[in-house]
Amino acid sequence: MYATLLTEISQGTCIITINRPDKLNALNAQVFTDIENAVDEIQNNPEIKSAIITGAGTKAFVAGADIAEFAGYTKEEAMSLSKRGQDIFFKIENSKKPIVAAVNGFALGGGCELAMACHFRLASENAKFGQPEVNLGLIPGYGGTQRLTQLIGKGKSMELHMTAHLMDANEALQLGLVNHVTTADTLLERTKDILQIIHTKAPVAISKVIDCINTAVVNNTDQSGYDKEVQSFGDCFATEDMKEGTTAFLEKRKANFSGK
Ligand code: COA
Repeated sequence: MYATLLTEISQGTCIITINRPDKLNALNAQVFTDIENAVDEIQNNPEIKSAIITGAGTKAFVAGADIAEFAGYTKEEAMSLSKRGQDIFFKIENSKKPIVAAVNGFALGGGCELAMACHFRLASENAKFGQPEVNLGLIPGYGGTQRLTQLIGKGKSMELHMTAHLMDANEALQLGLVNHVTTADTLLERTKDILQIIHTKAPVAISKVIDCINTAVVNNTDQSGYDKEVQSFGDCFATEDMKEGTTAFLEKRKANFSGK
């Protein structure tokens, strides 16, 4: 039904598996379209009470935006991509039904941003989280500068964005980025069990909890942080360092930044 997702409904939970394991489930334009349609389906299908987002294979949840797609993007195209990614992740964040990330490996860049847009997160022991965009001469473009700061606080968010440090699952647990760490084998079952508890509660009350808690951390009348991220993401695409960073990744070598 979806080109890049596998979906399955089990006991009222729709399990969405991002399915590009050969590219570590990187987010390209088709994945975005598919996620958007799947989130609409979750809202509209009365059989579905909640959803889980996870990644195919044993290595990655999502290793980021598809860096190969960045080549040749103008600043304006990059800004549109960033805005589109943000809008789809807002749809997840504002879903009336719970959407939980089951992070089963690398959740980097756009993958960490996708997990953070979900209502909460569980991680397997081999999960790794980070916003490594500065390695590419970039910054996050899908809300990472905003949501990581909301979830773990300003100082830690600054350090993680600036160093591109990859957190392991226990570090993510300590910082409050994930709620539980499980073995790889039990990740999905544990996530489903929590959702089964939520399914016994009143659906309207659950949707009001989501709305009110989102309002506590996101000032709905002021999107200026997200807007600044779109602009700044675009600005990076006009630099030589972004070209060097993304080319170096695709050529599997270390980037040599000039500051231009
Ligand atoms: N975009 C596009 N392709 C990606 C990708 C991404 N974000 N992440 C991984 N891939 C691809 C690799 O290019 C490789 O493809 P190939 O086999 O055709 O060469 C394949 O997925 C496997 O990745 P590889 O790098 O060989 O695996 P690894 O185990 O050596 O390293 C990571 C794993 C996650 C550390 C590494 O892939 C990585 O750093 N990815 C990018 C993370 C990132 O910067 N994300 C933010 C993007 S804005």
